[in-house]
Amino acid sequence: MAPSTKVLPLVITDKAEMREWSRSARRQGKTIGLVPTMGFLHEGHLSLVLEARRRADVVVVSVYVNPGQFAPSEDLSTYPSDFEGDLSKLRAVPGGVDVVFHPHDLYDYGQREVGGGVGGGGGDSGGNGSVSCLEEKSLGHETWVRVDRLEKGMCGKSRPVFFRGVATVVTKLFNIVEPDVGVFGKKDYQQWRIIRRLVRDLDFSIQVIGSEVVRDHDGLALSSRNVHLSPEEREKALSISRSLSRAKSATEKGQVDCQNLKDSVIQAIQEAGGKIDYAEIVDQESLESVEEIRSPVVFCVATWFGKVRLIDNIEIDV
Ligand code: PAF
Repeated sequence: MAPSTKVLPLVITDKAEMREWSRSARRQGKTIGLVPTMGFLHEGHLSLVLEARRRADVVVVSVYVNPGQFAPSEDLSTYPSDFEGDLSKLRAVPGGVDVVFHPHDLYDYGQREVGGGVGGGGGDSGGNGSVSCLEEKSLGHETWVRVDRLEKGMCGKSRPVFFRGVATVVTKLFNIVEPDVGVFGKKDYQQWRIIRRLVRDLDFSIQVIGSEVVRDHDGLALSSRNVHLSPEEREKALSISRSLSRAKSATEKGQVDCQNLKDSVIQAIQEAGGKIDYAEIVDQESLESVEEIRSPVVFCVATWFGKVRLIDNIEIDV
């Protein structure tokens, strides 16, 4: 199937078909940009698509809620979705999107013999799309990609299987779509660093781009989960971005003590009614905690407002 520049997008659900589409694009000399998503797209995702458009000839957006990155206790079953809405948003992106890759179940290997090669069969239909990462036996899947050190801190502490699920599904998507460029949001800062590291460590020939956090008019970082916030919770959640920008301004005025900066952010969020999961100031590359800001850091926060867990961060370059 020939890649098209028309305002489509073409929806592909089958892995083999997706790979063949990409290979055909490559034979025509085109570079491929991939934007992996879990759907329920918002302006933040659309900015990733625009970034991919700037960097590659054709753009593939994957829409797949990856059960492998949810623990059984997490919100897989309530994760919002609106595939038709996603398609119309993607159609409206200037330049359009070439393909939406929307597999039913990326952990269904059909009846193929284990290690049976890439030819024949291997459809994405059937399977139980609702299994979570811990039920490996029912997944029939036992290979996981782990980025040992980077996955341990911050979100990895309260979500111990999250990053292995992300690293694994992104590896699968890279192997299926075979992109030249992958675009990820820096709102998920730890995820972005992990993906850059896995691409380097596993010698993928893919450039990983981090796109800046996209915020609502009042500063709230865009997230598919924001839809679950009540208007009051949403208002209170503004304490996250506001306290992070105050912390950044304080560093610009010479504050270097991380404990002080963290205390102020934690206090502001708690006063607004948020429950802190973590507030950490870490080195931008290694994600190691720092005590004093002497080199580029990122201030990362995860906090609960009601039943919604929100993350946000701000880079502080010195
Ligand atoms: O950031 C996300 O939406 C997901 O973690 C990703 C990268 C699409 C993998 O499922």
